[in-house]
Parts: sequence; structure tokens; C-alpha cells
Amino acid sequence: MGIALIILAAGKGTRMQSDMPKVLHAIAGAPMLVHAIRAGAALEPSRCVIVAGHGAEAVTAAAQNYEPACQIALQTEQLGTAHAVAQARSALEGHDGDALVLYGDTPFIQPETLERMIEARRTHDVVVLGFQAADPGRYGRLVMNGDTLERIVEFKDANDAERAIDLCNSGVIAADSATLFDLIDAVGNDNATGEYYLTDIIAIARARGLSATAVACDEAETLGVNSRAELAMAEALFQARARAETHEAGVTLLAPETVFFAYDTVVGRDTIIEQNVVFGPGASVESGAHIRAFSHLEGCHVSRGAIVGPYARLREGAELAEDVRIGNFVEIKNAVLDEGAKVNHLSYIGDATIGAGANIGAGTVTCNYDGVMKHHTTIGARAFIGSDTMLIAPVTVGADAMTGSGSVITRDVPDGALAIARPEQVNKPGLARKLIDILKKKKARQATRQAEGAE
Ligand code: UD1
Ligand code: MG
Repeated sequence: MGIALIILAAGKGTRMQSDMPKVLHAIAGAPMLVHAIRAGAALEPSRCVIVAGHGAEAVTAAAQNYEPACQIALQTEQLGTAHAVAQARSALEGHDGDALVLYGDTPFIQPETLERMIEARRTHDVVVLGFQAADPGRYGRLVMNGDTLERIVEFKDANDAERAIDLCNSGVIAADSATLFDLIDAVGNDNATGEYYLTDIIAIARARGLSATAVACDEAETLGVNSRAELAMAEALFQARARAETHEAGVTLLAPETVFFAYDTVVGRDTIIEQNVVFGPGASVESGAHIRAFSHLEGCHVSRGAIVGPYARLREGAELAEDVRIGNFVEIKNAVLDEGAKVNHLSYIGDATIGAGANIGAGTVTCNYDGVMKHHTTIGARAFIGSDTMLIAPVTVGADAMTGSGSVITRDVPDGALAIARPEQVNKPGLARKLIDILKKKKARQATRQAEGAE
């Protein structure tokens, strides 16, 4: 039993004017296709089949990168939505349960909506997701008779009376899997476009005495993306919703319209997010943290009480424990900072472990990359790294150790030791004044020569 998702993603998306398949264009840091997979995932499907055609290789890679268990069905020629669903048949061999058809370019369908469809399936053989369209345009129209959905008419094939209907087809359909494929077998292509319409299965089901109904959702959920302008609108819609949800979760956004979330950003209550903060994928911030202006966070975790920014960059694998401080122009990548550690100014900390309470001075760099491999830097608890220290990894600075400012640390520093690794200073008495005199004379000679040359 269980539910199988069939996500249609074979179309080219000509109006995107892109070399990339339409469903791979991103909203909030994730391909539209991933949004569709996530919506369906709320139903805990036992299988997920992506019907790919244009750019199938890239579509496969993106789908399986997000959900390795996704199966791919190839549709080499785009002959219509019924033909697309038919391509999933062999992938669903042996599946005993419902199938739910989603579109890869319709990223906003809410999990609750799909749950309502599954609920309606208890009493009806086929359930279609519809919506009242403000402008029904070219959508397929749902022809209802009371609660019963009698048929769907595509705009191009509809008469005037049918075109006047404003209950439209979103494209999402649920039915028992075996029933769905049986119905699709009966679909022909004798219509205005010569395509095999998935929508035809409703009239076929009714003629066979099966029941069909429609569940309605908000039009915003069915928003499809066909052009760059619509992609931008979809992004704006996502962000507006994410900001509202973040407010509801008890987070302060000082200038909500300047904060951008990724599809999977998690922020705990009583966190404060200042102006112009951008989240890439994979960021989570616990309760009571403070993200200051112009910071960029992705693939990272920020614990309670931590302060980040302004102008900080947290990258993949940055893990900040409670009360860590990350200041301006600091970049942290693949590094774990233990409780209360501080990196306040102009530093790069990559591939590192920083102990509790350690203080990393301004301009410190973990030199992690030798051009071929990455190496680790370990800094012990309460260590004090002097400003402008270069830590040539692999290297370990012990607990309670110090490094002198400007040091280039190439060897391990034992616990509690002070390491100074910089050329010793030499003072030459009076030489500064002499040097200035020499330079001034040189400049005067040059000016004289130029004046003579000009005569
Ligand atoms: C379809 C519906 C229409 C509905 C509208 C909602 C049919 C016949 N019509 O029309 O009732 O109102 O969506 O947006 O189903 N696809 C494939 N292979 C194909 C054809 C399409 O994978 O051979 C995919 C597309 O990539 C897209 C989805 O199916 O993700 C819908 O196809 P599209 O051509 O946009 O259908 P519409 O004409 O908009
Ligand atoms: Mg369409």
C-alpha cells in the first residue's frame, strides 16, 4: 500500500529562454522540482517517480541529489500529460495503492491540500485538485454536477458555456494506481492539439461508473512558472510567506522585506534578524540568537545566544555553539566553534575546530588549502590567537596557548605555550630621516630634468 508520487517534469519550458530544463530553475535556493517533491513528501510516499524528458540527465541528477530513492521515467517525446503519466507505469510495477500526479513546475502546493485530496479519495475513485481562478485564462475547466466532477474540458476544446466556468484544473490528480493506468490506456488524442490529455480520464472514469470529485485550493498554491518574470513572482511569493511564517514563529525581523530565506531555513523564537540578511540552503538558527545586518548564512547551525555579523559569512559546515561571537568580515567554513568562542574581525576560519572560549584575533587565517588538499586546524579551549596569525594547517594550538600577532604558525603549539613566529625587529637610529632626505632630493632632481626637457 502507500502512495506513489508521479511528478511530471519532461516539458522544455520554452518561455524560460534557458539552456536549463525549466523545473531546475530555483526558488528559495532549491529547484522547483525539489519543491514539488517536498510537497508530496508530506504524504510519506512509498515511491516517487519523476517523468523526465528535456534535460533528463540534469533533472535526474537534481532529483536524486535531493532524494536518492527517486525513480526516473523517461518520456522522450512530449505527447501530452496522459502520455507522460503512462511512462511511469513500469517504474510503479507492483505498487499497490494510490498514485498522485504532481507537476514539477508548480512549487507551492501545500501538504495539507494533498492530505485533503487523499481524504476525498476515501469516497471517490478519482480526485482532482481545482481552484477558483481570478482569470481562468487558458486553464482546463472542471465541469461539476453537484459534488461530482463529470469531465475536464481543455480551454482550446471548450465551448462558450464551458469557458465561462471559473473552477479550473490545477493538474494534480489522485487515483488508485492500477485504475489510473487503466483509464490512461483509454485516452486518445482526437482534440485541438493532438495531445494525450490526462484530463480526459475523468469523462472515461464517469462513463465506466467510477466516481470523481474535485477538492479546491487557493489559487496561489497552483501558481505555475513559465517565464523568468513568473519565476521572480514565485520567489517573491515564497519570501512573503516565509517572512510571515517566521514572524508567527516568534522571530523579530527588523526589515522583513530585506531578509531572504531558503526553502529549508529554520529559525527559533526570540531570535533577532537585522536588515539585509540572506539565507542559503541548509541554515538553522536556534532560539535567542542575533543575526546582524548584511550577513549571509548557508549550510550552518547557529546555537542559542550566538551573535553573528554584521557582514559575516557562514558557509557549509559552520557550527556555532552557544554564545559564540562572529563579527564583521569573518568567513567560517566547515568549522566547529565551541561555546563562547570569539572571532570578531576580518578572519577566515575553514576546516577547523575552535575550543570553548578561544579568542581569535583580527585578520587570522587558517591556511587550510595547499592547492590540492584541505587540512585541519585545531585550536584548544581558551587559546588566544594574536591578530594576523597565519595558521598553516594541519596544525594544532593547545588549550590556553597564545600566538604572537603576525605569527606564521607552521608547527603545533603545546598547551599553555606562547608561540612567536615572525622576523625579529631591528631599529636603525636616525635612518628614517636620512631616507626621507634622500628621497626628497631624488624627487627634486627628477622635476628639474622634466622642466629642462620641456624647454
Ligand atoms: C495542463 C492541464 C490543464 C490545467 C493546466 C494547469 C492537461 C491536458 N491540461 O495544461 O487542464 O489547467 O495544466 O497548469 O493536462 N508534461 C510532460 N510531458 C508532456 C506534457 C506535459 O511532462 O508530454 C508536463 C509539463 O512539463 C508540465 C506539466 O506536465 O510540468 C503540464 O504540462 P503543460 O503543457 O504545462 O499543460 P497545460 O497545457 O498547461
Ligand atoms: Mg502549463
